[in-house]
Parts: sequence; structure tokens; C-alpha cells
Amino acid sequence: MKNLFYLNKYFVKYKWHLLLGIVFVTLSNYFKVLIPQEIRKALDFVYDSLQASEGTAISEIPTEQLFKFSITVIGFSAMMGVFMYLMRQTIIVMSRLIEYDLRKEIFTNYEAQDINFFKRWKTGDLMSRVSEDVSKVRMYLGPAILYGINLSTMTCIVLIAMYQVSPKLMLYTLIPLPFLSISIYIVSRMINKRSELIQKQLARLTSISQEVFSGIRIVKSYSKEKQFGEFFETETNLYKDKSMDLAKVNALFFPLMIMLISLSSLLTIYIGGILVNKGEISNGHIAEFIIYVNYLTWPFTAVGWIASIIQQADASQKRINEILEITPAIKNMNADNYPVRGKIEFRNVSFNYPDTGIQAMKNVSFVLEPGEKLMLLGKTASGKTTLADLLLRMYDVHEGEILIDGKDIRTHNLDIIRREIGYVPQDVFLFSDNIENNIIFGNDNEDVSRVEEFAEYASVHKDILDLPEGYKTMVGERGVTLSGGQKQRVSIARAFIKEPKIIIMDDSLSAVDTKTENTILNYLNTMLQNKTAILITHRLFKNLDIDKIIVLDEGKIVEMGTHKELYSNKSFYYELVEQQSLEEIT
Ligand SMILES: Nc1ncnc2c1ncn2[C@@H]1O[C@H](COP(=O)(O)OP(=O)(O)O)[C@@H](O)[C@H]1O
Ligand SMILES: [Mg+2]
Repeated sequence: MKNLFYLNKYFVKYKWHLLLGIVFVTLSNYFKVLIPQEIRKALDFVYDSLQASEGTAISEIPTEQLFKFSITVIGFSAMMGVFMYLMRQTIIVMSRLIEYDLRKEIFTNYEAQDINFFKRWKTGDLMSRVSEDVSKVRMYLGPAILYGINLSTMTCIVLIAMYQVSPKLMLYTLIPLPFLSISIYIVSRMINKRSELIQKQLARLTSISQEVFSGIRIVKSYSKEKQFGEFFETETNLYKDKSMDLAKVNALFFPLMIMLISLSSLLTIYIGGILVNKGEISNGHIAEFIIYVNYLTWPFTAVGWIASIIQQADASQKRINEILEITPAIKNMNADNYPVRGKIEFRNVSFNYPDTGIQAMKNVSFVLEPGEKLMLLGKTASGKTTLADLLLRMYDVHEGEILIDGKDIRTHNLDIIRREIGYVPQDVFLFSDNIENNIIFGNDNEDVSRVEEFAEYASVHKDILDLPEGYKTMVGERGVTLSGGQKQRVSIARAFIKEPKIIIMDDSLSAVDTKTENTILNYLNTMLQNKTAILITHRLFKNLDIDKIIVLDEGKIVEMGTHKELYSNKSFYYELVEQQSLEEIT
């Protein structure tokens, strides 16, 4: 159970909920136990009255007295109900509050993690930890604790009440109850194991269908519907079989419970009868005891059930703790606020990807003064995207340092650095939201007045107006599918609207036709004024004012300088220029 100790800090936080809950549970149980005593008195009263009148007529019994008994029982029940309501209001509410806090804690922890974390852990796994696992822990925080307190106070009070009547009868009636606990525990464990198998199979079904739906065009174009259909059928069948297994165990639960309770009642009546004959107890006591036995069944059933809930919650909390113990590799150590000018310097930067060990950056050094534009060229896998990621501090460098305005980025305020860098990533991502919100996403103040202006700069304004609902058109999973080039341009508008000091465009015009490319490049010349820019591309941008060109190869700088310098090198850059002019002629 040690994993669950992590939650103790929340019990401290919500101590009043917990303490009041305990008080309410005890009071509710106290009133509950008064009921059978009242019933015993009523029965004994009836019995005595009949004896007194020598069993002549029921009508002889004073109804007034009976009425008083009923009113008392109703009163006790009402009090019991009120406190039961209050106990749920405290303990179940506490469990929901802790659930909320815990979810928030896990999610905040996820968000603080570095990119590498998200590569290492599967999305589905992370999601199930923040959803299902938290829900299982909640079962411990709420129901398990509630019934735990309930059954312990209930058992104490009932045992005292029973003991006062007859210790002997108490012992006999209690004999079957431990068997009840143990068998319920075994059955609950079986139920939980089988439910888990069902959950897993269901998750499998979901992910299979999800993959088929997202790859539906491939599935259809290769005419694979039938195969997938059959595959799905087999998996669904498995799901059915597993559900049947569960149903069989579930069916055992109640008969088992009722059998053991009946056994207890039987013993009460039999032993109780003997004791009445001996004159040790009254008739009413038997009725009182049968009600007590019924009261005890639920606690004894719940013990097994609670034990299995706690086991499950413990396993879930273990998975949650596993995540919470991971501290993000990238930490923001600076909370100052200051302006950024935009000078960028790489000093002997080397970097290996932690998971694969691939050395993606080798001893890279260059300087960009504020406002300078760099064109970054190189074959695929030469390290261009890595350079951008390092500048955004998605990873920390292994050797050397990256400086912005002469200061190591590890000592900068990360929020300011990321705010002042407008990044158009190579793999564009749009949220399932409308276009306007996707563009304004880049802006902290959510001022939509300039959205159209920036869409115009990114040359996507006309495309957007052609969409059914213009800027309010939904895109992504729930909306229209934009073309690769349109997405790139929306992404450009998003990066520019926050008016950052530094712009990084990673192959952002790769899916755009030459004419549109030229329009955007024209705008870029004005938009990039006073901004430091790193333009990663595999095609040369002819109409753009560039201060510096770098060619990367296998993570190393192989050429660096101006157009003239590199052209005269007669190397990679020269060949690229030649090849591109050849393409333009033909
Ligand atoms: N997240 C990653 N994990 C491990 N290796 C990576 C990762 N991203 C890129 N690499 C490797 O680093 C090298 C440089 O990649 P990248 O910077 O994406 O090149 P480019 O953008 O120039 O195509 C490649 O060998 C690539 O396989
Ligand atoms: Mg790349």
C-alpha cells in the first residue's frame, strides 16, 4: 500500500472533509443501531400484552403504544439518512477534489516535460495514467475510505449492541461472516482481473478502429476492407468471450452473499430459540439479532471489495508516481522580464540524441547579429531541424553553448526566449479549432484584429475566404482538411502574428507552388525587417535578402559565407544554384 502514501498530503489538505466525514458516519451508524432495539421493544411489548390477555385478541393491544414505537423508528431512520447524506457530502466530495488536484498535478507534470519524454512514453500510456489510473485511485479515496470507515464503526457499534444482549448468540451468528469476507475478496479479485482483460481488449478494439479510420484512404485504395472487417470480427469475438467469463463470476457474487447471510440468520433463529427456551433472552431479541446480522453483512462483504479496490488503486498510484518522479530535463531557472534584441551565437555546439545516440550536431559555431538573415541548407538528416530545436531549447546541448544576446540560453528566461522566437516547424500542426484561433494561438493577447493582415502576408487570406465559413472554418480532426501548402501558410501566419524578434522557418515553403512562394518571399522581405531569421530550406530563395548562408552536412558546417563566397567554392551550394537555374530554364 506504500504507493498510496503519496496521497496523504491531500488528506492533510482536506482534513476537515475527512474528519467531519468520520463524525457523520459514526452518527449515522449510531442511529441505525437504535432501530432494531426499538423493534425488539415493540415485539416484546406485543408478546407481553398477548400473554397478559392470555392470548385472547390482538385488538386488545394498545395501539397508541405501537404508534409511538413506529414514530421512533421513523425518526431514527430519518436521522440516519440525514447523516448518511452528510457523510457522502464530505467524503465523496473530498475524493472528487483530490481527483481534480491529482489530475491537474499529473497534467502539469506532463506539460513541463521535455520533448524526449514524449518520445519515450507512448501517448496512449500517458493518457491512461491521467484518466483511468486516476479514476481507480479515486475509488480508493472515495468509496473505499467511506465504506472503510463505515464498516469499522458499524461493526464496533453492532458488536457492542450484540454483546450486551448475549455474547453466546453473538459468537454463533458471527461464524459464517469471515467466510463471507474471504469469498467476496476472492470473487472481487477474479472480477477485477477479468474486467482488466476486458478493458485491455476494448482498448485494442479502439486502437484498431482508430487506425483503420485514420488510414481509411489507404485501406480503401488497396481494397482491404474485407480483411480488416474479418480481423475486427475476430477481435470483437475475443471481447465477447472475455465478457462472458466476467458474467459467470459476476453471477456468483449475489448468490454467495445471500447464502452466507441466510446461514447466519438460520443460526440466529436456531440458537436464539434455544436461548429463549432457557429464558436467557426474550423473543424480541431474536428479531433484533436478525437485523444486526443483516447490518453486518454489508461491512463483511465490503471488506473483500475494499481490499481489492485498494490493491487496484495501489497499482494505479504506482504508475502515477512513476511519472511524477520524472523531473523534466529542461528547466526554466529565470523568471525575469526583459527585452530580446535577437543576436544569436552558436559556440562549438555538439549534440547527440539521447535515445538513439545519433550525433546530430558536431562542433557548430556561427554568429548572427540582430536583424541578420541566415539561409540554412543541407541534405536531409544533415541536422537542420536539430539546430532549430536546440535554439528553442527543446533539448540542451552536450558541448559548447548557444547564446542569445550574448547570454547562454540555459540561463535565459525560457518563456521569453520561446515567446520571442517565431517558429514555423517542418511538420505543421493545426489544432482542431477554427482557422482564426489557430492563427491567433501565437499571440498572448488574443487580439484578432490583425489575423487577416498576417494571413495576407502568408498569402493564405484568399484561400481562407474560399472556405465555407472563412476564418471561422473548423480545421483538423473535426473540420475541413487543408492542403499541405495551406497548412504551412496558416502556420507562417501563426508564427509572425506574435511579432517575435527571431524567426525560424523550417522548410516552410516546401509544399507551396513557385508563384505563391514568390508572393510570400516578397512579403518576407518587409516582414523580416529588424528580425533575426533562420530560414531552413532545400530550395534557394532568390528574391530574399540573405546575409549569410550555412551548408550543413552530417551535423557539421561544411560551407559558410555569402552567396558570392559559397558560389566560388564550387561545392554543394554551387551545385544547388546550378541545378535550380537549370530547372527554371527547362
Ligand atoms: N528525435 C530524434 N531522435 C533521434 N534522432 C533524431 C531525432 N531527430 C532527428 N534525429 C536524427 O538526427 C539527424 C539529423 O536530423 P534532422 O535535424 O531532422 O535533419 P534535417 O532537418 O536536416 O533533415 C538524423 O540522422 C536524424 O535521424
Ligand atoms: Mg528537417
